[in-house]
Amino acid sequence: MKALYSYSIASNIILLSFLIIIFASHVKASSSSSIDNFLECLPSYSNSSSFPISNSVYTRNNPSFLNVLQSYIRDSRFNTSSTPKPLAIVAALDVTHIQATVTCAKSNGLQIRIRSGGHDYEGFSYVANVPFIVLDMFNLRSIDIDIASETAWVQAGATIGELYYKIGKKSKIHGFPAGACFTLGIGGHFSGGGYGNMLRKYGLSIDNIIDAQVVDANGRILNRKSMGEDLFWAIRGGGGASFCVILSWKIKLVRVPRIVTRFDVPRTLEQGVTDIVLEWQQVSSIIDRNLFIRMQPMVYKYKQGGNSNKTIRVSFSGLYLGRAKSLVSLINKRFPLLKLQRHDVIEMSWVESTVSFFIGNGKPLEVLLQRTPSPPRLYGKHKSDFVKTPIPRSGLEKIWEKMIELETVFLQWNPYGGRMSEIQENSTAFPHREGNIFKMQYLTTWEDDSDEVMSRNLKGIRDLHAMFTPYVSRNPREAYLNYRDIDIGSN
Ligand SMILES: Cc1cc2nc3c(=O)[nH]c(=O)nc-3n(C[C@H](O)[C@H](O)[C@H](O)COP(=O)(O)OP(=O)(O)OC[C@H]3O[C@@H](n4cnc5c(N)ncnc54)[C@H](O)[C@@H]3O)c2cc1C
Ligand SMILES: *[C@@H]1O[C@H](CO)[C@@H](O)[C@H](O)[C@H]1NC(C)=O
Ligand SMILES: *[C@@H]1O[C@H](CO)[C@@H](O)[C@H](O)[C@H]1NC(C)=O
Ligand SMILES: *[C@@H]1O[C@H](CO)[C@@H](O)[C@H](O)[C@H]1NC(C)=O
Ligand SMILES: *[C@@H]1O[C@H](CO)[C@@H](O)[C@H](O)[C@H]1NC(C)=O
Repeated sequence: MKALYSYSIASNIILLSFLIIIFASHVKASSSSSIDNFLECLPSYSNSSSFPISNSVYTRNNPSFLNVLQSYIRDSRFNTSSTPKPLAIVAALDVTHIQATVTCAKSNGLQIRIRSGGHDYEGFSYVANVPFIVLDMFNLRSIDIDIASETAWVQAGATIGELYYKIGKKSKIHGFPAGACFTLGIGGHFSGGGYGNMLRKYGLSIDNIIDAQVVDANGRILNRKSMGEDLFWAIRGGGGASFCVILSWKIKLVRVPRIVTRFDVPRTLEQGVTDIVLEWQQVSSIIDRNLFIRMQPMVYKYKQGGNSNKTIRVSFSGLYLGRAKSLVSLINKRFPLLKLQRHDVIEMSWVESTVSFFIGNGKPLEVLLQRTPSPPRLYGKHKSDFVKTPIPRSGLEKIWEKMIELETVFLQWNPYGGRMSEIQENSTAFPHREGNIFKMQYLTTWEDDSDEVMSRNLKGIRDLHAMFTPYVSRNPREAYLNYRDIDIGSN
């Protein structure tokens, strides 16, 4: 909400023009003739002989239509027969296909949904309740790295796994701060902020973006200079789709040590985890910025004397931009309750740490290139909050009790501070900077198709979110744009 307020000041002209042109165009005819006119319009705006636009268009009667649509659906809630489908998918093969899609959708009163990696938690990149076209970016995925200038141009349809892999192939001392899940699309992920385990040292992805190529509502190709600083400000944190189509980003690589250190240690209630969490809240956002420790509380079920029992187990996952020995001594000095031992930590290269952080140690780097996540079918619902004062013991105890009752919701606490506190809240459209101890994600996921399981899980996550009200930011209650949550409201 803070983000909405601030970007509406600086960019309302751009926003309004884009929304009015694209979204408020009067629907001229029924959608069946609109789609025919749209398809007829395309070739006149894209006459590339190497990439005929007919090769990128999938209408509903194309045998590959459903397969293309489903290839980048990442939440089964939006993969049902009753989920509204686009009239067509344009899987752009070059920039003229984007220009043609924007221009012809506008002139025919059709909305477009832009999709890069398809991870939107509410399916906004491929679902709409009005006649619409999906502009799919997955074919546009080039990554050009220039180590001499420590920069790269990355197209929107590339995944962050592909980016990490290519950086790792070119250099042992460079990296890029972005998310954990390899299949995230560069297009959506960066435009909402993009955070990962180097945010305390280097900030968000957007804090390391120096240029962009976009297509605006008039079908023009613009870069930072020609779009102007207002639009360039808005697309770094304000979400791309509100403003334009992002074709590619120019990023500044960051320096990483040749050897970094990782750990994952679980602690339960029986091991005194509440005290450890209290100490984590005191130190995690002010400790050495080379250290990031994510905390993940979840319900853990176990058998005890034939009875099943439940407890809270919190996993502490760390990345340290330094060697094992200095990590262990740092933690023992500043965060002693964690009782981290030398055998708990493991040294590796930065690119190996990207694999290790998301799926564990010992996997080949090629997993970074996989585009299909596992499991292939998964339902989910996510919410977020920012925490500015430590949650007291009494609060933690209430939360654990509620989580144990619900069983199905787990949390991810990501510490801020360091570089995040140095960047002014108005320097990009992502305003959550100084004053935050951590950002929290609520997660619930399930594999069962039943409506009953779905409504129980949706209720569970909403109830837990409501219970957190006294402990999180207020006036406004802040949320992370990339953790799309329709419960907050929509326009
Ligand atoms: C498993 C999982 C793990 C995640 N982990 C992290 C994490 O570690 N850190 C983090 O910051 N976030 C994380 N997220 C959230 C993620 O950043 C957002 O879901 C992000 O929007 C995904 O981008 P996408 O391109 O894959 O999604 P899409 O669904 O393709 O797009 C998301 C939004 O961006 C718009 N958009 C997409 N491409 C473009 C484009 N080229 N131009 C303009 N607008 C565009 C879409 O229209 C939509 O509104 C995670 C999400 C999932 C599902
Ligand atoms: C077709 O391409 C040529 C050369 O690339 C260009 O000059 C011309 O304007 C294009 N026509 C349309 C309708 O876009
Ligand atoms: C969507 O449905 C298709 C066809 O049933 C299936 O192959 C695919 O795995 C599903 N994807 C998700 C995320 O549910
Ligand atoms: C479950 O564990 C708690 C804490 O260890 C214990 O007090 C309780 O008796 C256990 N319940 C059962 C049914 O074993
Ligand atoms: C941010 O705010 C400061 C102080 O109010 C102002 O000087 C600065 O110009 C602003 N920066 C941007 C990018 O708007």
